[in-house]
Amino acid sequence: MSLALSIVYLFAAVSFIYGLKLLGHPETAKRGNTIAATGMIVAILGTLVLHELTVSPFVYTLIGIAILLGTIIGWVIAIKVEMTKMPELVSLFNGFGGASAVLIGLVEFGNNIGNTSQMATIVAAIFIGGTTFSGSMIAWAKLNGRMWKDIRLPKYNLINNVVLLGLLTFAVFIVLYASDNSIYAYLLMLVALLYGVLLVIPIGGADMPVVISLLNSLTGIAAAITGVLYGNMVMLIGGILVGSAGLILTFAMCEAMNRSLGNVIFGAFGDGGASAEHAHHATSGVIKKTTVSDVAILMNYSERIIIVPGYGLAVAQAQHAIHELEQILESRGIEIKYAIHPVAGRMPGHMNVLLAETNVEYDKLAEMEDVNPEFATTDVVLVVGANDVVNPAAHNDPASPIYGMPILDVENAKQIIVNKRSMKPGYAGIENELFYNQKTSMLFGDAKSVIQELITELKGM
Ligand code: TAP
Repeated sequence: MSLALSIVYLFAAVSFIYGLKLLGHPETAKRGNTIAATGMIVAILGTLVLHELTVSPFVYTLIGIAILLGTIIGWVIAIKVEMTKMPELVSLFNGFGGASAVLIGLVEFGNNIGNTSQMATIVAAIFIGGTTFSGSMIAWAKLNGRMWKDIRLPKYNLINNVVLLGLLTFAVFIVLYASDNSIYAYLLMLVALLYGVLLVIPIGGADMPVVISLLNSLTGIAAAITGVLYGNMVMLIGGILVGSAGLILTFAMCEAMNRSLGNVIFGAFGDGGASAEHAHHATSGVIKKTTVSDVAILMNYSERIIIVPGYGLAVAQAQHAIHELEQILESRGIEIKYAIHPVAGRMPGHMNVLLAETNVEYDKLAEMEDVNPEFATTDVVLVVGANDVVNPAAHNDPASPIYGMPILDVENAKQIIVNKRSMKPGYAGIENELFYNQKTSMLFGDAKSVIQELITELKGM
């Protein structure tokens, strides 16, 4: 590699690392993204201009067309995508990362006959890339509701583990004995695709966040493997960064969902002891409805209020309205905070991103562990479009699919106001006994309109 190209790659690698660091805080995240993206552009241009291969103008034209098409499609999608569809987009992008690793693996398979270490990397790229691609496509279909949430074959854990073991054995066999026949590479790809499907179809209920971050991490690993294959430092570093960041996120999500990573990979995954139908039982009683004016009065005479945002807040695009409500209440001397559950919404950090968009002060966002002890001394909790993350079944009902998941203990507050549009369940598809709690009043309606009405009512007081 030329010295100039090494310098370009060094610049790109540093910008990835620095960009990633800046992504750690909402205030600097945009800048971090721009810096890392600039590094990527420099790495791509540097590779195109400074490489040492002889490339025909035709190949350059093909590369140019691919970059142009990719840029246009990516640009349009990124501009058009709604916040609530972001996790689906992430799944789709994860899938593309996996697919490119498979394609690289297939292309390079025939070029490395007899080279065991190269062959091991190629086979790993096909294996991991294939699993990531099909797994991500299933996750995408599930997240956008095209696919029924959990499909469980009989003994699916056993089947999955047998297929995984078979896949590993087959991969080793190819590396050692069959690297001269490309048919095996295609066969390996098919089994890896099958495994990706089998891995993700049984997962439903509230477990999707774990699988999405795991697939994200696998995409990074696939990229790192192709970096090893080509001896390309910047691909390797980029891949390792995505892989390890994804893995850290996977652990964080596991903790939030109360699952161990061993459970995730080797079975019992998504099997919280019961199916969603099972959990439709038990919840009965009367619900109490309330009105905007009653809630406005209640809030106006409170000292401490905690707002719990959830997926419905994002759907309604009510972030600006909630921020205005918060400011009005605060101007009247009421102490106000947001309680953020790690898996509220549909992607990691969803609520932070949403509220950051409206410039809510970061010290008003309280993490679950910090805020939970505070509910007992809170006058009113306003739950806006959140459901699973405040469901006490996680504590009380061993048969519930979310049993054991840490939740926001809103039921300890003096009064609970829940805003949603109906009695329909949330993502996990289970009922919520919180709605029947004597301290709970339901404020039905679209989050944005209800909060706007609350603001009007409060202004008139
Ligand atoms: P959910 O449990 O999904 O509940 C959201 C609630 O919002 C629904 O019950 C819905 O009730 C209400 N809603 C929808 N549109 C609304 C609107 N326009 N106005 C007012 N309310 C509206 O959300 P959550 O409490 O945030 O929990 C997140 C769930 O998603 C968890 O189960 C989590 O595991 C899962 N998940 C999370 C992630 C990550 S990484 N965060 C990724 C995938 C899945 P109505 O229909 O009655 O209005």
